Amino acid sequence: MPDILYINGRFTTTGERVLGVEDRGFQFGDAVYEVLKFAGKRPIFLGDHFQRMERGLREIDIRPPWDESQFTAVVRELLDRTAFDDGIVYVQVSRGESERAHFYPDDMEPTAIMYSRAFRFPDPTKKERGIRLVTMPDLRWRHCDVKSVNLLANVLAKKRAQRAAADEALLLSDGLVREGASASFFAVIGGSVVTHPLDEHILPGVVRDRTIGLALAAKVRVEERPLREHELFDLHEAFVTSTTLGVMPVTEIDGRAIGNSRRGEVTTTLQRLFHDLEARE
Ligand code: PDD
Repeated sequence: MPDILYINGRFTTTGERVLGVEDRGFQFGDAVYEVLKFAGKRPIFLGDHFQRMERGLREIDIRPPWDESQFTAVVRELLDRTAFDDGIVYVQVSRGESERAHFYPDDMEPTAIMYSRAFRFPDPTKKERGIRLVTMPDLRWRHCDVKSVNLLANVLAKKRAQRAAADEALLLSDGLVREGASASFFAVIGGSVVTHPLDEHILPGVVRDRTIGLALAAKVRVEERPLREHELFDLHEAFVTSTTLGVMPVTEIDGRAIGNSRRGEVTTTLQRLFHDLEARE
């Protein structure tokens, strides 16, 4: 059954083919996107997603098609029209459609789409068992803080990880650990939580930010600094965070066990706190 789709002010279903071949999102990856979770029809961390999207759009010179209250209203109407209660909303705003040329016209009309999708979030067994990572060179462009749809480096890294029987690629550059191909990365060293600082090398993950807040509130020390590649040999615990995974333990990196291949204590605590936070949202 097709899902509910919003495009440029009207609702239809994903069964309708709505994009022109000269939409710049399609031809140039000239667009930003968001993935947000909803549970029991409630969108989770909606304001955080809106703010990141708006910042990204401004950064690449695309006029935001909505202000925050319009965005909220569209998401709510989309979910009202959706037949199921839990899933994800995919949002994409491209620069719009025009005759193909690298030079883009000024004042283009952006293409704004949004659709809901049922999604299988990890179950408790998976959340306890955790995932395996393999390291790879980070071949992305240099503005990873913008959630652009230029995901070629991410999808190739992820496919290579899958072929190496892992779940996620851990991206490295300049001898430093950046983040996963589609998740933020955290290490636990001697009771402190360590994660990359916010800069152009990583996406400012919504769940990353919330997890740091939870850790600080629980009096867990947080260090925002890039981890050196060699420090990966010496982690007590590791986990990744994202909208679709929540807080997910990492039990192996490049075939080496982390914390005896079992979910660690700090990770378990943060997982529980994050679960409770989502339920309150
Ligand atoms: N990915 N880093 C990257 C490169 C990501 O693509 C994502 C999310 C994250 C985590 O961000 P957040 O906590 O805001 O979900 C970090 C989404 C889920 C995706 O592309 O499907």
